[in-house]
Amino acid sequence: MESNKKSPEFNFYEAALVKRCPLFKDCTNIVVGRGNKNAEILFVGEAPGRNEDKEGIPFCGAAGKNLDKLLNEVGLSIDEIYIANILKCRPPENRDPTTEEIKTHTPWLLKQIKEMKPKIICSLGNYATKFFLAKTNVEDMKNQPGITQVHGQVQEVEIDGLKIKLIPLFHPAAIIYKRALEPEWLKDMEIVKEYCKGN
Ligand code: URA
Repeated sequence: MESNKKSPEFNFYEAALVKRCPLFKDCTNIVVGRGNKNAEILFVGEAPGRNEDKEGIPFCGAAGKNLDKLLNEVGLSIDEIYIANILKCRPPENRDPTTEEIKTHTPWLLKQIKEMKPKIICSLGNYATKFFLAKTNVEDMKNQPGITQVHGQVQEVEIDGLKIKLIPLFHPAAIIYKRALEPEWLKDMEIVKEYCKGN
């Protein structure tokens, strides 16, 4: 498959920011999102891994398989959600994103949110959760509580005048390593489903 890095689709300001990031030089593909852009629920992960980078599709590797399984268990299909990440390019060896990278990549995520207008954002893991809890102020992410403290607690965030319910969830990769988190995830997903019905 040909790399999408030169796609004419990505000729806008927020994409230009990402293309200036050092991560862009070494990645294979820009990983934008998958699912239904008109869905009411947006899932936001951290960054593409090796498989995602190769395919240009978020959550298509081991974490993604687990996400699909977990969604299936609560009866949510990919047609009912959209999935994106904080970073659009893979960090080397899947290291944690830096503050600078998050600042450079999240304007594109915010553009996606403004276009999609989701009612619910499910943040997967610490990075996405802290980004939204910090009201998208990247410098303030370090002052936010971690996912273990806030998972399943519904918060309201406002993005560009849109009021959105934020539901922090454990990252599906964390659940692979720590199976004891799975019942917690399923409980948290019941909350997501309740909010879907209520909207
Ligand atoms: N983990 C993430 O946070 N995002 C992906 O796309 C894949 C794994």
